[in-house]
Amino acid sequence: MSTSSATAQSHPNIAFIKYWGNRDNTYRLPSNSSISMNLDGLFTRTTVSFTASKKDSLIINSTEVTGKGLDRVSYILDLVRKMANINERADVTSENNFPAGAGIASSAAAFAALALASSRAAGLTLSEAQLSVLARRGSGSASRSIPAGFVEWQMGKSEEDSFAFSIAPVDHWNLVDCVAIVNSSHKKTGSTEGHAIAGTSPLQNARVADAPRRIEICRNAILKKDFEAFANIIEHDSDMMHAVMMTSNPPLMYWQSATVEIFHQVREWRAGGLPVGYTVDAGANVHVICLGDYAKEVEKRLREIPGVSDVLVAGVGGAAKIV
Ligand code: DP6
Repeated sequence: MSTSSATAQSHPNIAFIKYWGNRDNTYRLPSNSSISMNLDGLFTRTTVSFTASKKDSLIINSTEVTGKGLDRVSYILDLVRKMANINERADVTSENNFPAGAGIASSAAAFAALALASSRAAGLTLSEAQLSVLARRGSGSASRSIPAGFVEWQMGKSEEDSFAFSIAPVDHWNLVDCVAIVNSSHKKTGSTEGHAIAGTSPLQNARVADAPRRIEICRNAILKKDFEAFANIIEHDSDMMHAVMMTSNPPLMYWQSATVEIFHQVREWRAGGLPVGYTVDAGANVHVICLGDYAKEVEKRLREIPGVSDVLVAGVGGAAKIV
């Protein structure tokens, strides 16, 4: 077979209704559906070339990666090789334009770009839903970085129908994510390990049982552009996930004091008429979501809070694409 190669680019995303816990860890079938928006301006660009090499290789930001990082990539490549009925090994090169350790989950953008680039390089043309399923096998949240704009990942009933789709396009609502970077000296427990222990919290069943209600409220708030309802539900959902994390065994406490300080400030700002709301992933950084017109003001205020070392600003991003 002749050498074939493809390059794809995709954005990370921020979840408004969180994915936390799987009903099947191997297939990454989530315990609940989730909703997110892609983050414009931040991206991962990945090139996959099937070659005559003896094994898969992986280079991320000019550094060769082996071991577990490479195994996770080879796992996706194996699925693609099986679908395309090929045996060639692949060279994978990937670059992020956002700094590692900036508190932006890189796995979502990384596995979305890998799913698209590797399937295309193997000669496959998968549908958006099939790409989302493939990306999900690498990292659950990556399923949501395949479609454009505002996205819902339906938990589905089976492996084939657990995929994400767009609920509103990029230009539907001018929301901006101001990510307040909070210094954290603690080594974080990764999401994969976190999902695996979510069920040890007695609160997880209640969180999962209530998820359809939150999904409905959040989806409607986005479709109607009702910021007040939106801010209330994303904060509620984020707090519920962190309540589960804190009460897991072992307990996961991702917040720092500055994280909590930002919560108080954001709620005070909102009470004062500024359209802002917060949400936090598996880390200390706070994603402060606001209406686009207020992003400059929100960024300025966040930078004044002690313990905030930087603020990244991102609007609504598009779909994963071949470049
Ligand atoms: C807290 O998708 O990173 O960001 O499937 O193990 O790669 P893996 O987990 P991952 O989990 C994301 C957790 C979260 C919430 C969310 O993005 O929905």
